[in-house]
Amino acid sequence: MRSFWFNKLSLVFGPRSPINWLILCLVSVFALIALLGSSSSNTFDSVTASVRPNTYSNFRRLKEQALNDYLELKTLGADRVNDFGLCGKERENYVPCYNVSANLLAGFKDGEEFDRHCEVSREQQHCLVRTPWDYKIPLTWPSGRDVIWSGNVKLSKDQFLSSGSMTKRLMLLEENQIAFHSEDGLIVDGVKDYSHQIAEMIGLGSDSEFREAGVHNVLDIGCGFGTFGARLLSLKLMAVCMAAYESTGSQVQLTLERGLPAIIGSFISKQLPFPSLSYDMVHCTQCGIFWDDKDGMFLIEVDRLLKPGGYFVVTSPRSRQQESSVGTKKGSTSIPFAEFTQKLCWNLLGEQEETFIWQKTSDAQCYVSSKQGIIPVCKGEDGQSYYRPLVQCISGTTSNRWIPIQNRSSFHELEVHGINPEDFSEDLDFWRSALRNYWSLLSPLIFSDHPKRPGDEDPNPPYNMVRNVMDMNAHYGGLNAALLEARKSVWVMNVVPVGEHNTLPLILDQGFAGILHNWCEPFPTYPRTYDVLHAKGLLSHLASERCSMVDLIFEMDRILRPEGWVIISDKLGPIERARSLVTQLRWEARVIDLQNGSNQRLLVCQKPLVTK
Ligand SMILES: *[C@@H]1O[C@H](CO)[C@@H](O)[C@H](O)[C@H]1NC(C)=O
Ligand SMILES: *[C@@H]1O[C@H](CO)[C@@H](O)[C@H](O)[C@H]1NC(C)=O
Ligand SMILES: *[C@@H]1O[C@H](CO)[C@@H](O)[C@H](O)[C@H]1NC(C)=O
Repeated sequence: MRSFWFNKLSLVFGPRSPINWLILCLVSVFALIALLGSSSSNTFDSVTASVRPNTYSNFRRLKEQALNDYLELKTLGADRVNDFGLCGKERENYVPCYNVSANLLAGFKDGEEFDRHCEVSREQQHCLVRTPWDYKIPLTWPSGRDVIWSGNVKLSKDQFLSSGSMTKRLMLLEENQIAFHSEDGLIVDGVKDYSHQIAEMIGLGSDSEFREAGVHNVLDIGCGFGTFGARLLSLKLMAVCMAAYESTGSQVQLTLERGLPAIIGSFISKQLPFPSLSYDMVHCTQCGIFWDDKDGMFLIEVDRLLKPGGYFVVTSPRSRQQESSVGTKKGSTSIPFAEFTQKLCWNLLGEQEETFIWQKTSDAQCYVSSKQGIIPVCKGEDGQSYYRPLVQCISGTTSNRWIPIQNRSSFHELEVHGINPEDFSEDLDFWRSALRNYWSLLSPLIFSDHPKRPGDEDPNPPYNMVRNVMDMNAHYGGLNAALLEARKSVWVMNVVPVGEHNTLPLILDQGFAGILHNWCEPFPTYPRTYDVLHAKGLLSHLASERCSMVDLIFEMDRILRPEGWVIISDKLGPIERARSLVTQLRWEARVIDLQNGSNQRLLVCQKPLVTK
């Protein structure tokens, strides 16, 4: 069995190593606890206790221990431990790599100054992104989808109007709360009708048939505040919102705050960090992109992202379409970029009111046939597209993943990814058991403010305490699969680090959210957007990439919500280094020895809510 559980659990705090005489028997430890209550007992360097699997006791006392160790560290090793300061108030919503004035200074122009340029804004000095003074822990799922705290996001006054586009309506409910339109929430609006309309246009009876028709994942570009995505999620589709960086009223920040999947990304000059043939549907409602700019390169990028037989849905008011179809033949038609979509072998399925739907061809030969051969097919593809320049050629036609979405089957999928079904199911078994253990590790953290008597069972954490999860080194997406199977109400951003085996196509083909990312660079999201960060083997991987663990830990602090958790699984060496770093960031941290004879350790941390 690959279960990593064990009967003995050792909790190690502080810089000092465990001392042998402290391996007291269980009875005396519990007797002491009972005697002294949760107040003192600071003389222990470590506690070793036999506990039942999945049960952790006495966490509150350990918390105090951690604080004491930390204070002691500060007074003793003044040189090694310098408390990192908070950044200025102007950086409360800071996203590195998107500094427009610095990009302009560096010579980027023609819109490229709004693109992601990590090389320009290299961080000189480390500081912790501060939490707004009026920040409040978000409501639990699903209430948090419909109502958020206004102090948690950056909005300008005029964005509180409820007059935006259908997907962009929001209103100030009370002084400090914002409510969103949603079907079963407070306010009814047209998003359900809209989703039905799209289903009908592609020949389905209703939007509940999307999944059967092969539509599993959707890239929602310029998603408003995620309302359409929320509808799709309720139909068991994965809809990821993607929008450009915005300094206020960010669609991505608000969508994530609601507990819906979102990522910063833009059609400017680079490919999105997804492999070709990634999505079953790309959707844009008034997303502000001039699709036929740059000789249609944005449409070619959409073609790259779409699976064969996938759909491109555009909704925008007539006036805008005419304006943006100047590039096509004058007066020919009111259909936007009609000529170009023909070159792309897209088939216009329908137009209704302001909505147009095209279907990408299932026939890879279509591109090379003489009639269409105006856009060449790309040569020498390797599938790794990490912010590469946009191209003028068609991708993916020679891939063995060229399978029409209408023909997908799970058996097919493992085969085309060259993965042995046995390895895959063994991996899932591993994650099932790992998840049970993680969940039991989080329980005492969640309930640490409610002291319980020794021997009491730890209650399970409520299923809806965590919502936005990031697996920083997702491999096959096994943690995501295990979470779904255990019916936790979470979604997972599965990150495949650049340089690791590229399993992102497999992750996306399972209908999960995923992205390629180089962890030597900042992640394209706003501060305080994830509840849990999980990283197995990432520290070791990064050591081989030779980038800074300090940068990584600061980045994790930035994107983690206050009172959010970090679970790092790695070898003892990197874990020890990480532990000493995170305590300097004021995180609570404990190292857990798996005690299965390996030098693997878990580091479980929680970021405190500090608003001063
Ligand atoms: C953006 O860049 C400018 C110019 O380099 C710099 O003065 C400013 O502090 C930067 N802003 C942030 C938030 O880092
Ligand atoms: C998809 O399925 C249809 C109908 O079953 C079949 O005719 C077609 O050949 C399949 N296409 C591919 C690429 O497998
Ligand atoms: C111990 O557990 C870790 C983490 O689950 C696992 O990677 C490792 O292979 C295990 N080692 C042994 C010797 O079983």
